[in-house]
Amino acid sequence: MNRRAALIAASLLIATGPIPLAAAADPTKAWPFKVPDETSIPAGAMGEAIALGRKVVTQTQTYAKAYVGNGLNCSSCHLTGGTVAWAAPFVGLWGVFPEYRSRSASVNALQTRINDCFQRSMNGQALPNDSPEMLGVLSYVWWLSQGVPTGMDVDGRGFRKITAPATPDKAKGKTIYAEKCASCHGAEGGGINNPDGSYLFPALWGPRSFNIGAGMARLNTAAAFVKANMPLGQGGTLSDQEAFDVAAFFTTQPRPDLAGKEDDWRQGGKPKDARY
Ligand code: HEC
Ligand code: HEC
Repeated sequence: MNRRAALIAASLLIATGPIPLAAAADPTKAWPFKVPDETSIPAGAMGEAIALGRKVVTQTQTYAKAYVGNGLNCSSCHLTGGTVAWAAPFVGLWGVFPEYRSRSASVNALQTRINDCFQRSMNGQALPNDSPEMLGVLSYVWWLSQGVPTGMDVDGRGFRKITAPATPDKAKGKTIYAEKCASCHGAEGGGINNPDGSYLFPALWGPRSFNIGAGMARLNTAAAFVKANMPLGQGGTLSDQEAFDVAAFFTTQPRPDLAGKEDDWRQGGKPKDARY
């Protein structure tokens, strides 16, 4: 350690006392998953931005209508407004971006990552970076990330990986779909709508679902999401094989294309389950 770093470390120790071991940021360990208490939402403009961000995420069809090209909300996949572990939560994301991603072969700001989901998962358009909607989502993620140290993943980030069987069975997946999913997501995968056009149950394929460039269109990602979270309220009831079988079925059904998809992974790192 050089003299400057040693002095800073010493002054920090004087100011705060020794950092307790449990709180020392060890990048090899995940931070405990915790949704902050509602009462920690500040009053005033910041609180209003957080509230707008939560609405953009849970009622995207209403609060970011102009930027959406399908029938989904962010919370169709980021369950309960991004507050559920292993359902790609937003908790703790503030301090892990900017992050290098091999899909774009560049360092992505959190705004870029959010817009990726607008353009792919929502089959829509990018939000302007300084729009109230973007600032709202950023504020909401910031609030959900209180107390999580910079650079640390929370325990429950993304989806819990499951082991891929040698060969997922699409035909079996079709049967599982009919038995365990179609009652909510519809026999033709188009979901079930309320009379006002909003969804009661979201579409898994077809024009009202995510496009081919979305993370959910990848077999491993879809299988991991399904294993942990579906059928809704019965997460963990399918075997890994069944989760892969049903994911192999619905991810390969017709869905919107993504213009410019050939630019993905242009410097390598393409995962085996990429659709193109
Ligand atoms: C069809 C499902 C789906 C929808 C709808 C969706 N996303 Fe995502 N989102 C994903 C998947 C899959 C990932 C990648 C998770 C992983 O691989 O760990 C992801 C990742 C993210 C991440 C990065 C998470 C991380 O841990 O790095 C952010 C931020 C995000 N989405 C924001 C949004 C926002 C905002 C919306 C609504 C505009 C949205 N998403 C809609 C499926 C979806
Ligand atoms: C009881 C109704 C119900 C059943 C049964 C069900 N789901 Fe879902 N599913 C939902 C709801 C509701 C959501 C969206 C979550 C929300 O809005 O809170 C969802 C979301 C999803 C999503 C992400 C959003 C999208 O539209 O792509 C996928 C993928 C999914 N379900 C797959 C499945 C699979 C596969 C099965 C069968 C193994 C299944 N679901 C069974 C209700 C159900």
